[in-house]
Amino acid sequence: MNIESNQPLLKPIRVGDLNLPNRVVMASLTRMRAANPELVPTQLHAEYYAQRASAGLILSEGVFVSPEAVGWANVPGLWSEAQVRGWSVVTDAVHRAGGRIVAQLWHTGSLGHPDFLAGKTPLSASAVNPEQQSVTASGHKPTVVPRPMDKDDIRRTVADFGRAARNAIAAGFDGVQIQGGYHYLFNQFLNVRTNLRTDEYGGSRENRARFLLEVVETVVEAIGAHRTGIKTGPTTSETGAFVSTDETLATSEYVIGRLNDFSLSHLLLMGAMSDLSATPLATLAGNGMFRHFRKLYRGNLIANVEIDRARGNRLIESGLVDMVAFGRPFIANPDLPTRLAIDAPLAVVDWPKVYGSAAEGYTDYPAFQALPA
Ligand SMILES: Cc1cc2nc3c(=O)[nH]c(=O)nc-3n(C[C@H](O)[C@H](O)[C@H](O)COP(=O)(O)O)c2cc1C
Repeated sequence: MNIESNQPLLKPIRVGDLNLPNRVVMASLTRMRAANPELVPTQLHAEYYAQRASAGLILSEGVFVSPEAVGWANVPGLWSEAQVRGWSVVTDAVHRAGGRIVAQLWHTGSLGHPDFLAGKTPLSASAVNPEQQSVTASGHKPTVVPRPMDKDDIRRTVADFGRAARNAIAAGFDGVQIQGGYHYLFNQFLNVRTNLRTDEYGGSRENRARFLLEVVETVVEAIGAHRTGIKTGPTTSETGAFVSTDETLATSEYVIGRLNDFSLSHLLLMGAMSDLSATPLATLAGNGMFRHFRKLYRGNLIANVEIDRARGNRLIESGLVDMVAFGRPFIANPDLPTRLAIDAPLAVVDWPKVYGSAAEGYTDYPAFQALPA
């Protein structure tokens, strides 16, 4: 361990008011283990996250801010007292194991489905079907045409994020991360294909970004900028309504430029998820994403998507990013920082059990030292 401990991934860093012992961040991973009607995290969640407490920082799975934000089966929430109590058990377990954990605040918008909403239509910027799949209790279903949010819907949703952030702190989380990207609610407002509004929340970049920035401001007021982070950027799957346009990069540049004003704890930037070579985002392929936004963003930057030990160390050493978030590697390697330290082989994910409902494939991946010789 000592010979490798000077690798950049394992150097400490201060993030907000947290001292992280290393720069290996666990990315948010939805695992669908809150299989109860109240969507409360369980003792199993506590065990799973505590096993991963050696991460410099744990980003929780996406957590719904309100009942109408729900759009994925068996994902826990953070609006009720029972959920706050359930999360307290999880954060306690992580802290007792020496770790730090922030809650990722999530609203699926049009990625949800009427199945979650007693038959009601999911909310979004405009009546545009995102042409994706929604993960319902009875399997994948095509998304539907959502209902455009009116001003009351927007005001209520901004307030829901503020309440969820306060609930996160009450539940013992060390902060929150706003899920501001991929295909979810805020990207539905940022994306010109899914936002056809003619009011102050549609049209110009400033207008399309208004909702997300109102949420950031509200969460910062609720719990402080030092405890508020965000996941945003131009990365999507490049499918359905989420195919990049000439506006995509400029919109992300605007949003990320404005985020500088808030002095947030971190910005998590996903690298490319698909081949961008024939898209308006071609310059963002490979490390292009981090090079591009490092120049625009002054705070702590977390790189993500298919980053391994060697590339992660290079990214930090070259100053392109401050930390690296690992998603899939944390599923089968609860002790990932140790494995990176000693360059141990990484265990392989048992994919059929990733989105299961039991301990199997969740809390039964052993730490490296525990493997038979
Ligand atoms: C099983 C699974 C669940 C995920 N759940 C979430 C989630 O709840 N919120 C989120 O922002 N990203 C989620 N992601 C994306 C990851 O956080 C991460 O951005 C992505 O896996 C790329 O990182 P990696 O290449 O290190 O896996 C999920 C990914 C996987 C594989």
